[in-house]
Amino acid sequence: MIGIMSAMQEEIQALLNHLEHTEEYTKGKRTYYKGTLFGKEAVLVFSRWGKVASATTATQLINDFDVNELIFTGVAGGIHPDMNIGDIVIGKQLVQHDMNASPLYGLFEIPLLHKTFFDTHPEKREQLTNACQQFIDTYTNVISEKEARSLDIMNPKVVIGDIASGDQFISKASQVQFITTHLESVVCAEMEGAAVAQVCYEYEVPFSIIRIISDKANSEAPIDFPLFVTQIASKYAFEIFKNYLQ
Ligand code: ADE
Repeated sequence: MIGIMSAMQEEIQALLNHLEHTEEYTKGKRTYYKGTLFGKEAVLVFSRWGKVASATTATQLINDFDVNELIFTGVAGGIHPDMNIGDIVIGKQLVQHDMNASPLYGLFEIPLLHKTFFDTHPEKREQLTNACQQFIDTYTNVISEKEARSLDIMNPKVVIGDIASGDQFISKASQVQFITTHLESVVCAEMEGAAVAQVCYEYEVPFSIIRIISDKANSEAPIDFPLFVTQIASKYAFEIFKNYLQ
């Protein structure tokens, strides 16, 4: 059973519409949609925003739905200057940029777990990258020129990179500077991935994180982010999962 999570319904709506033989379970104020997606058994759920919401949802997926692969898909703010709106990041390592128990533990280290970075599954990461590249090579079939222009999507690319998560929407230069100063390898920031990563590490479930750049984590982010989420994110997710699962 594969678990597919996002933070917002908009990010997986097209996948939900395509799910067959759907059974619904409501637990913890969220609905889990179980069914068949592109021929594979899957459970879909949106967790709501943040590390607590996503960690509890991931735990429920593992314990109640016997998920043996978990994929989080959603949007992120670009942190590295080369990241543009519409690019796709496949997470390599996940880190919680708002964890700070220093001087007792290293900055960002999860106390008692002796871990700062959580690795995604290497083979699944490669397979997902191929699925994303397949979509990007033909994205103009799915995203119209008008849509791409209105959202500033130009020649999107797929990168494998490190992702930072925290309970903060990143839109100020000082926030970006904190992340880039302490975590040089990070390419984008979001609010759930590293929490899901920690849960999957603790339960030994292979996981992957897909993040589509919706904004550049700057003063325009509060405008760019909702436009991208409502208009485009779900189309990306649909095409990526079609390629990955089929
Ligand atoms: N998700 C999408 N854009 C984001 C941002 N700028 N900060 C945090 N999470 C995000």
